[in-house]
Amino acid sequence: MTAIRIAPSILSADFGRLAEEVVRAQEAGADWIHVDVMDGHFVPNLTLGPAITAAVRKATHLPVDVHLMIENPGRYIQAFRDAGADVVTVHQEACPHLHRTLASIRESGAQAGLALNPGTPVSAAEEVVQMLDLLLIMSVNPGFGGQSFIPSSPGKVARAHRMLDAAGRPDILLEVDGGVDASTAPLLAAAGASVLVAGSALFRASEGLEIALARMRRAVDHQRGGS
Ligand code: DX5
Ligand code: ZN
Repeated sequence: MTAIRIAPSILSADFGRLAEEVVRAQEAGADWIHVDVMDGHFVPNLTLGPAITAAVRKATHLPVDVHLMIENPGRYIQAFRDAGADVVTVHQEACPHLHRTLASIRESGAQAGLALNPGTPVSAAEEVVQMLDLLLIMSVNPGFGGQSFIPSSPGKVARAHRMLDAAGRPDILLEVDGGVDASTAPLLAAAGASVLVAGSALFRASEGLEIALARMRRAVDHQRGGS
């Protein structure tokens, strides 16, 4: 079984020292850097765009994982790819022409991700599963960092894992985002998650990012070792 990737979300980083925060996460052992893009329409919050993504790209050699929480994301895929995104994830709920949007992510040269809100069933991904490199299960309603983990999420991750297996695509990465910390991470690992996004549990940890990331890694490895 491949090791779980941990993807710190810069949404909870100190934006005034963004490059340093990214380097700090990389040196602490992060696998990916997760970039949350919000448009004030699909979700109530406004965050950042391609220029900040390019600054993240410049600061790290790690894969840059861009999570687009925006309406009609097709308009911006090339801009984020040009800014250095390795993975571009769009929301099923934000894409009236999902098949076309996923195809254009692949055409841009990025890996294609599909995100499902907590209220969206796993079956919403079935018709496009062969176009995916990653499936993202939201474990909070998107829009803000620091929200509480929805307790039914590990069950949904397990259903998604079975769906990918049944589709003959166990290689598709199964990412989970929202309320992930050292206590929820092992539940997600046990359910079959392969990428864990964490913002506040890492960048806002009282013990510091390095210790928090090591603790999350140990909690996940322990669970995997014991399974
Ligand atoms: C939520 C974002 C998340 C967020 C996670 O809408 O997609 O990536 O930063 O933050 P935490 O880990 O604090 O829930
Ligand atoms: Zn995210």
